[in-house]
Amino acid sequence: MKAQNKVTVLDFGGQYAHLIAKRIRRLGVYADIRHPDASRAELGRPGGIILSGGPSSVYAENAPAFNRDILDAGIPILGLCYGMQLMAHLLGGEVRRSDSREYGRSEMDILGDSPLFKGLGGRQTVWMSHGDSITTLPDVFRLLASTANTPFTVIAHRRLPIYALQFHPEVHHSENGLRVLENFVKIAGIKADWTPGSFIDEAVEKIRAQVGNDRVILGLSGGVDSSVAAALLYKAIGDRLIPIFVDNGCMRFQEAARVKEFFSCMPDLKIDFVDANQLFLDRLNGVENPEQKRKIIGAAFIDVFEAEAAKYPDAKWLAQGTLYSDVIESVSFKGPSVTIKSHHNVGGLPEKMKLGLVEPLREIFKDEVRAVGRQLGLPYELISRHPFPGPGLAVRILGAVDVDRVQILQQIDEVFIQELRAWNLYDSTWQAFAVLLPISSVGVMGDERSYENVCALRAVNSVDGMTADWTELPYPFLKRVSNRIINEVKGVNRVVFDISSKPPATIEWE
Ligand code: XMP
Repeated sequence: MKAQNKVTVLDFGGQYAHLIAKRIRRLGVYADIRHPDASRAELGRPGGIILSGGPSSVYAENAPAFNRDILDAGIPILGLCYGMQLMAHLLGGEVRRSDSREYGRSEMDILGDSPLFKGLGGRQTVWMSHGDSITTLPDVFRLLASTANTPFTVIAHRRLPIYALQFHPEVHHSENGLRVLENFVKIAGIKADWTPGSFIDEAVEKIRAQVGNDRVILGLSGGVDSSVAAALLYKAIGDRLIPIFVDNGCMRFQEAARVKEFFSCMPDLKIDFVDANQLFLDRLNGVENPEQKRKIIGAAFIDVFEAEAAKYPDAKWLAQGTLYSDVIESVSFKGPSVTIKSHHNVGGLPEKMKLGLVEPLREIFKDEVRAVGRQLGLPYELISRHPFPGPGLAVRILGAVDVDRVQILQQIDEVFIQELRAWNLYDSTWQAFAVLLPISSVGVMGDERSYENVCALRAVNSVDGMTADWTELPYPFLKRVSNRIINEVKGVNRVVFDISSKPPATIEWE
């Protein structure tokens, strides 16, 4: 990829920069993210630069800034929110925290002609989120659009290809936001020829440059992220990748066999399967407290993984399928699942094992990871898998975990998932699973009284797992699933369906 066909996003904080980069990539243009301090020489000559939004005020002490000489490089620049204010401030304008703060949807009137607005009508719904705004426009800029509360909503430099928006074109609520970004890319003359395939080529090059001739260990869980990371590393370094799959006894139905099957498209990839069922179940014996279960599983995972990795003393690196969303979750407060997730993402392992970290998916989002996985030839069934928690069925078996209860839940879950796929409901559901309750209920089976397990089915729709609505699965579907579970899974005589949303409920029951 030629530098002039990429957009560089300067990151002024928060989540904006990555969302902007993602939108640009959606347009088929490669976008990378750089620290705002980067010098003009370090930035090279990208086709365009976007200054992201950020939480600071331009007058704040230590407010992040960029190198001013970038403005004179002749590179097309788009400043967004804080990026806009910073440019106006540097070029002699005035920015103030005034009454004109705006959050949420706003109606914007287009006042000036500009290629930035190509294909847009005169009035646009845009998404605002700012306390400060420009109060005096530098002379070098002209006004292109306003909202009722923000007179300088869109501005353009009079001579240079520099534009700035107070609203956020990267969020879905800005109705033509993507169009505005596309127009900027066109103004910059950037060729939109970037695809998941180009991501793969670049990632492969980066991995090779990073690890040289060393061997790399990877914790393969059977989930989308670690699987795509494995496929990518395999492409980059072949059999110098050592994927280690630890069966912790609390996984989905026949998981190890399934993972073997998923990777049968890469016959030379040698996965190291470790059957640690017994060790995990022994350590979980009699433990009812969910947090304790999580801790035990996290610690056991580290023990088993470390012992297995010791068999490859020449391995210098640990690869992880960390996604961008994991990165932001670890730096900002996002509710209880943050702490929950830390051990699952094998935090602490690389330092403890003195390994360098390889994270080829760190800058991209889940849907992009899926596209990359598809391109790498991984099967659809794997790529489309729902999220599955690290502690697995241990937090879906309420109360103590033992091998019998694991097997019962695996069978229930398998029926539910099979039927969701058969009824074409799997892909439209964000996450679905079964929970085994710590109670028994009375039933009649034949002429006999039964006193057996109750299970709950949970299906949710969500964007990122932070909030979720229960999925309205059709009654005939639920009827079929319930019949199958009660007929096929020995030890269950009642099935209930969870109709709670998050908040106040969480997605998992424990
Ligand atoms: P909750 O239950 O917090 O779940 O609403 C939100 C998302 O996180 C997953 N989850 C976990 N993932 N380790 C994980 O790796 C965990 O301990 C854990 N607990 C919940 C959950 O499946 C859902 O996708």
